[in-house]
Amino acid sequence: MLIRAARSEDIPAMQAIEKHAATAAHWTDSDYLKIFESPELQTDWRRIALVIEEDKLQGFLVAQTVGGEWEIENVAIAADARRRGLGTRLVGELLDMARAQGASAVFLEVRESNRAARALYEKWAFVESGRRRQYYREPEEDAVVFKFTFAS
Ligand SMILES: CC(C)(COP(=O)(O)OP(=O)(O)OC[C@H]1O[C@@H](n2cnc3c(N)ncnc32)[C@H](O)[C@@H]1OP(=O)(O)O)[C@@H](O)C(=O)NCCC(=O)NCCS
Repeated sequence: MLIRAARSEDIPAMQAIEKHAATAAHWTDSDYLKIFESPELQTDWRRIALVIEEDKLQGFLVAQTVGGEWEIENVAIAADARRRGLGTRLVGELLDMARAQGASAVFLEVRESNRAARALYEKWAFVESGRRRQYYREPEEDAVVFKFTFAS
């Protein structure tokens, strides 16, 4: 098992995984391309994209960071590779990176009904820190905001 930085050549495999993950964030081709664009100069906004591979690409995680705050924007594991710890490994890697770079907190939003994702984040000690009413469409649903706080 290998976790590495995503490359633009990974986009088709990332999209194939997302397509079969109803509860992942659904992005356009251009959203995926933007992950790999260089950030504007004079800003500390950055994207982080990781993939996890076994014999093939099995999952990905995309996050962004501004200052000390990080946000997980999307994470998905191939349907036939779930429940084997890959999501745990990807989130753990992101937390290690954020910690090493002096982050104060990591946030994310998740559909209220997404039990698998909520359990994954709770396993990593994320805690519910808010709610966004009717945040999601198709189907309409509240978002639960989770926060991981680094010990200072
Ligand atoms: C959420 C997701 C990324 C989890 O990835 P995964 O590799 O299956 O997760 P793991 O095997 O590391 O499981 C970690 C923990 O999450 C929980 N979990 C995972 N799948 C679960 C399920 N179907 N039901 C209940 N709990 C589940 C368990 O607590 C599990 O720990 P355990 O196996 O020790 O009991 C994966 O289900 C997925 O890709 N879902 C579709 C996309 C999505 O919803 N993304 C999140 C958007 S915020």
